[in-house]
Amino acid sequence: MIRTHNCGEIRLKDIGKEVVLCGWVHRVRELGGMTFVELRDRFGVTQLAFDMKANASLFAQANELGREYVIKACGVVAERSSKNLKIPTGEIEIIVDNIEILNQSEIPPFTIEDETDGGEELRMKYRYIDIRRNVVRDNLVLRHKMAIETRNYLNKQNFIEVETPVLIKSTPEGARDFLVPSRMNTGEFYALPQSPQTFKQLLMVGGIDKYFQIVKCFRDEDLRADRQPEFTQIDCEMSFVTRDDVFDTFEGLIKHLFKNVKNIENISFEHISYDNAMKLYGTDKPDLRFGMKFAELNDVAQNKGFKVFDKAELVVGICAEGCAEYSRKQLDALTEWVKRPQIGAQGLVYVKCNNDGSFKSSVDKFFSNEQLKSWTEKLNAKPGDLLLILAGETRQTQYALGELRLEMANRLGLRKPDEFKCAWVVDFPLLEYDEETKRYYAMHHPFTSPLIDDIKMLGSNPDKVRANAYDMVINGVEVGGGSIRIHDSNLQNKMFEVLGFTQEEANSQFGFLINAFKYGAPPHGGIAFGFDRLCALFGGTESIRDYIAFPKNNAGRDVMIDSPSGIDDEQLKELGLKRTS
Ligand code: AMO
Repeated sequence: MIRTHNCGEIRLKDIGKEVVLCGWVHRVRELGGMTFVELRDRFGVTQLAFDMKANASLFAQANELGREYVIKACGVVAERSSKNLKIPTGEIEIIVDNIEILNQSEIPPFTIEDETDGGEELRMKYRYIDIRRNVVRDNLVLRHKMAIETRNYLNKQNFIEVETPVLIKSTPEGARDFLVPSRMNTGEFYALPQSPQTFKQLLMVGGIDKYFQIVKCFRDEDLRADRQPEFTQIDCEMSFVTRDDVFDTFEGLIKHLFKNVKNIENISFEHISYDNAMKLYGTDKPDLRFGMKFAELNDVAQNKGFKVFDKAELVVGICAEGCAEYSRKQLDALTEWVKRPQIGAQGLVYVKCNNDGSFKSSVDKFFSNEQLKSWTEKLNAKPGDLLLILAGETRQTQYALGELRLEMANRLGLRKPDEFKCAWVVDFPLLEYDEETKRYYAMHHPFTSPLIDDIKMLGSNPDKVRANAYDMVINGVEVGGGSIRIHDSNLQNKMFEVLGFTQEEANSQFGFLINAFKYGAPPHGGIAFGFDRLCALFGGTESIRDYIAFPKNNAGRDVMIDSPSGIDDEQLKELGLKRTS
């Protein structure tokens, strides 16, 4: 070993020891005949001391060191005269007797500090330098711990990790595929997997019984803070299980992670149906750290002459505790906020519950105090509270109020980063109808089993059929989703039929799975967690990019390696592709 210690481990007990350290020059300070170099590596920072009187040439050498030079320093551990108790190595320093420059460095494009002067784009371009910063490195360490603990837990539960292929077959269901042209089969394409879904089901047919994989998935979809084109799943599947077995096993995983990574115990799980989630929170991924539940006001607010409400499919409100003091200006700003295209509400009605028991609303012209009181009763409002009400088409209005609920919770400080509320959202609709293509799509994927009781409606009333599917939602983030699968080829064929596939189309796209199901497919089910999202949740930030070593930007570009990029004519020709422009 070139070094005897790392830069984060030497303490007072090591005084007098001869040590060799390697690392990057973080800072050089000259102070009246002494030069101090902070030497940094992944583990921390250790101070190197150079005394001009003791060794003038070494002292001069130290003063020549530039930021981010890579050096090796040999010396003796000594107690510092002025200690820095903010860092673990702050009580000691190394009295250096020799340094060797292992490599020089150009001046880095931004400072390697927690509060850096580098903007996002610049840091992405020089990600390898950004990774030297504590914040980024700590996020990668967290991710590593999460992966190790996931493997520990699943291994103990008898799961085995199996790798599935990355060059697979394109299917038109789900998001857009990333395609890879085949040189050996000119004109044909592989697709990168959106998930290993069909393979894990084939592994169940293969008798693997409990499978998992920490695996890259690829989806060509619009990017957001919680979406990357390539992301990682903890993908799992089990045979001979009910939904409750899946819940037990993976509540266990999440509890294990909270305990072993964050030292948090007493994590519990609520169950909420998709219908209730939509009705009460306007979303299928509710943040349950706070209440502010919706109350439908159709029966008390309609047919009183206020046209906006009368023609609405849904009139629905929330109660923002203690916000009756909001000024006209604040309420106008909130109205503008809900009218933004991202939220899409037509307007906002408010009712202030005054401390004297009276009400002041934006619709006083249409409603008596008595009528407003009946709204406040539905929303359990008390004096000092503010009702916020939206009206319109059901889904859109639920969505908009759901967003407003989150916004108000942010303002009221109700979304505490160190509090975790977990839930299973269950009984999703099996199918979604698309007006544009005039057909049903599987809400989860085509292999999800309907609830047994609802199978009979598959032909006659497909909208009403509920799926045996579930999402795990923590603090409003969909961290995972899964289902009990169809294992019967007749039911699978029926499902393809409802989705509008001809027998030939089903066979050409999923024939391998339909065939496999003829050879003793066990009942099975599973789940996949968004690993990047779980890491971000544990780390306490919204953007999954912070937890990916080399992420892509919002335009799907890796600005560091400049990808995607063009390819030359020779490569195109070899792949049997033509340039269109
Ligand atoms: P699903 O499509 O719900 O299910 O994906 C599972 C989980 O993966 C995460 N996720 C993403 N994370 C980052 N970027 C993305 N673009 C992205 N897309 C999805 C989410 C999501 O909950 N095969 C099924 C699982 C199953 O049925 O077992 C599947 O992939 O956290």
